[in-house]
Amino acid sequence: MKKAIIIGASSGIGKGISLELLKKNYKIGISARREERLDEIKKISPENVLVKVFDSSTEKNDVLLDYFINKLDGVDLIIYCSGIGIINKELDYNKEKKVNNLNVSGFTQVITHAYNYFVKKGSGHIVNISSIASEIGNGIAPSYNASKAFQANYLQGLRFKSSKIKLPIFLTDVRPGFVDTDILMGNKDKLLWVAPLDKACKQIADGIDRKSKVLYITRRWKIISLLIKILPEKVLRLFF
Ligand SMILES: NC(=O)c1ccc[n+]([C@@H]2O[C@H](COP(=O)([O-])OP(=O)(O)OC[C@H]3O[C@@H](n4cnc5c(N)ncnc54)[C@H](OP(=O)(O)O)[C@@H]3O)[C@@H](O)[C@H]2O)c1
Repeated sequence: MKKAIIIGASSGIGKGISLELLKKNYKIGISARREERLDEIKKISPENVLVKVFDSSTEKNDVLLDYFINKLDGVDLIIYCSGIGIINKELDYNKEKKVNNLNVSGFTQVITHAYNYFVKKGSGHIVNISSIASEIGNGIAPSYNASKAFQANYLQGLRFKSSKIKLPIFLTDVRPGFVDTDILMGNKDKLLWVAPLDKACKQIADGIDRKSKVLYITRRWKIISLLIKILPEKVLRLFF
């Protein structure tokens, strides 16, 4: 039986991936801050779901990972889905810091601990949900896009590292466009190509099986990625 840890599993993409992995007969350890939401997932398959309530913006993510690794007697896959974005037109440092604490510091602690664990184990797979936002700046939520750029770049660095140390440690960077979750804050109808959550999570789960390096969700967001690369900044600034 394959085993996975999903951090940020209480709603949205993390919950959707957790349900997909249960369908694929994984045993999973799930965490986030909202206990009742995590317990709803446990109820679906009590013997295959371990729950730990945890705030990943703190400095103890290594303890969280070790808890699941020990309880599950080793894991094959670690997925970081926790993430926040804050509209910050007034450029308040405290709001930027809150985003960075989870999307940069929490992320880095999870990924370094996961990677070092897989080096010791000799193999493994790390998945992070970054965003198409990783590819461009954003005037009203600067730290969100910048933190996603950090994540995407970090995973690429670790892919280079894996190939140098010649170990089968895979790193999948998932870059969604818009997916219908709470993070859209009710703006679904104003946004482009919003993917239904179940469709997005099925595509992510299939990409995890294929051990994809970079995964656009849905696939058409690759077109936007290409436009971001070729359009001049004076055009791009009209949209971001
Ligand atoms: N939906 C989209 O359009 C979209 C597009 C691109 C990228 N993404 C990325 O996808 C990831 C998942 O977001 P989502 O769309 O599924 O939104 P969501 O439903 O709001 O999920 C966010 C998850 O992060 C967890 N989280 C938030 N603060 C946390 C903290 N301090 N400690 C631990 N967990 C925390 C939440 O759990 P608790 O609140 O229970 O702690 C929740 O499980 C995020 O990284 C987001 O940036 C989403």
